[in-house]
Amino acid sequence: MTVETPKAKLKVALFGVGRLGSIRARILTNFAPRIELVAVCDPKPGSDKWVAQNLPAHVKFFADPEDCLVNGGAQAVLISTATATHAPLVLRALDLDLHVMVEKPIAVDIETTRVVLEKAKTKPHLKFLVPFCRRFDESYRSLKTLVDSGDLGDIHAVQTDCLDKQDPSGFFVNFSEQSGGIFVDMGVHDIDIARFYLDVTKGCPNPRKQVNRVFAVGQTAVYHDLNNLKTRDCDNGWGVVEFSNGKVLNFHIGRTLTNGFESATRVFGTKGSAIVNNNSVIDRVEVRDGHGVRTATTPDAFVLYDKSFVHDLEEFANCVLDDKPLSLLADDALEAGKIATALQYSFRNNVPVLFDEEGNPVLRA
Ligand SMILES: NC(=O)c1ccc[n+]([C@@H]2O[C@H](COP(=O)([O-])OP(=O)(O)OC[C@H]3O[C@@H](n4cnc5c(N)ncnc54)[C@H](O)[C@@H]3O)[C@@H](O)[C@H]2O)c1
Repeated sequence: MTVETPKAKLKVALFGVGRLGSIRARILTNFAPRIELVAVCDPKPGSDKWVAQNLPAHVKFFADPEDCLVNGGAQAVLISTATATHAPLVLRALDLDLHVMVEKPIAVDIETTRVVLEKAKTKPHLKFLVPFCRRFDESYRSLKTLVDSGDLGDIHAVQTDCLDKQDPSGFFVNFSEQSGGIFVDMGVHDIDIARFYLDVTKGCPNPRKQVNRVFAVGQTAVYHDLNNLKTRDCDNGWGVVEFSNGKVLNFHIGRTLTNGFESATRVFGTKGSAIVNNNSVIDRVEVRDGHGVRTATTPDAFVLYDKSFVHDLEEFANCVLDDKPLSLLADDALEAGKIATALQYSFRNNVPVLFDEEGNPVLRA
């Protein structure tokens, strides 16, 4: 049986060809059958050469974001720039009536996140997607089906870790201020996936207030320069989130592993528990020799979640072209962003953070 490929393609402009953006560019041109990459923008010197050498000749290069937004010929944008630069690009794209997919997190603070989401809500005819990569991973999706089946009973707690490999170049130190800090940048994934499995509004006396309190601690085990930043950060952090219905997330995030990148998620139910990525292996090869039994770890999130970065684009294109609803809401990104920012604040100020009846963290500084 032959399956016909639908003819209509979504014209997309990509902003940012850094670590993730360069991967996105290759996916957009090779593995996204319903998307046509029409333009790429990155003001970083040398980006024009990278585009000329790696992408098809018809992809237009822009060094100026405004020029690309107005003259790129796109119907939709994918914003893959440093987090601190997301908001102005998203707001302008929405003004120009472009569909938006923007990498997590939306912004480094709650106020900006809220401004962006309120603007997106004024444009209900446009799709707006923040693609948390674990939600687009096949194993995480299987676990969601298991959780929803009820076979694990009532899911009362989630425990995760997300641990990057050490980078001797000190990338994480320079990256910290632009990314909002480790809880905002990395912890937001753990928070989002916990919200995905814990039914956080069920049994909640006030649905606006999904969280009671959060607490975070951190260390600088390797990258001591993080202590000297204007906005202090850590290279290992632990967070606890108590949701208003009594469910709990606890997680460990870090930047100092030596074997590779690990990212595990365990859900605890009243009838059983289940875990994804207990060992973040690159393949199923096990070496057994004089050192014992060992497997190779994935080097980074881009490899462990490689298919997610294809699946999310597929969903985005399908939902725009077929006018279908997306599988996650803009409000999911807002709730995760609020909790992540509260945890970053908790770590920096050595205090627990309570949430008020409107569902906002009470940040006193
Ligand atoms: N698992 C995930 O979902 C995941 C993984 C990695 C990164 N991210 C997110 O993706 C985003 C990019 O991260 P990265 O690691 O690739 O960053 P990066 O610093 O490697 O790359 C960012 C690029 O954006 C460019 N840029 C900056 N301002 C721009 C503008 N106004 N217009 C166009 N280009 C601009 C920079 O020159 C740079 O090349 C971040 O928000 C990050 O949080 C998500």
